[in-house]
Amino acid sequence: MRTVGFTQMKDGTAADYQLLQALEREHARGTAHRILRELQRQADESLTGYRITRLEHALQSATRARADGADDDWIVCALLHDLGDGLAPANHDRFAAEILRPYVRQECAWVVEHHGVFQSFYFGHFYGWDRHARDRYRGSPFFDSCAAFCERWDQSSFDPAYRSEPLEAFAETVERVFARTAYDPAVIRDGVVIGVPRGSCASDT
Ligand SMILES: [Fe+2]
Ligand SMILES: [Fe+2]
Repeated sequence: MRTVGFTQMKDGTAADYQLLQALEREHARGTAHRILRELQRQADESLTGYRITRLEHALQSATRARADGADDDWIVCALLHDLGDGLAPANHDRFAAEILRPYVRQECAWVVEHHGVFQSFYFGHFYGWDRHARDRYRGSPFFDSCAAFCERWDQSSFDPAYRSEPLEAFAETVERVFARTAYDPAVIRDGVVIGVPRGSCASDT
């Protein structure tokens, strides 16, 4: 295997950095695969106490999003929104948002980034927190999308009786999203609000 000649980056040559750039591009093509592998890990390395694993929660969220007619951006965000549970328990929402941000609509990355505080609407008061903490984001164009994401796909997806699609059923969608050009303005669509499709029932908070 070819490697660079340097032991300190400051000594690298143009040829070294061209080699690294080519290898990094190749590596980036494996991102979707690595993400799916990480998700699979959540089948057994999971938070306990819930009635389902974190993988099942992810699958349930994504299955509901797909069933509601959501687009690729929403489906992948629903699938990955808790990916940081294992490595970033104190800021798992932002962890996932940073993975998704280059490849999905700004609206969707914002929703993943803020879903933690929006989710606390459902339980914050049991811990003495302000369950209305999400209200500080009322001025955001993405507020309603985040409230609906949590209501329809996140807080609702802890049901052991729900029949989710398997992880393999989402592999192609994940591959497609992470094959996009990073930060492509046509993907990011600054400020555009598509909203969460309401599917067949409507009980948004
Ligand atoms: Fe979460
Ligand atoms: Fe969640």
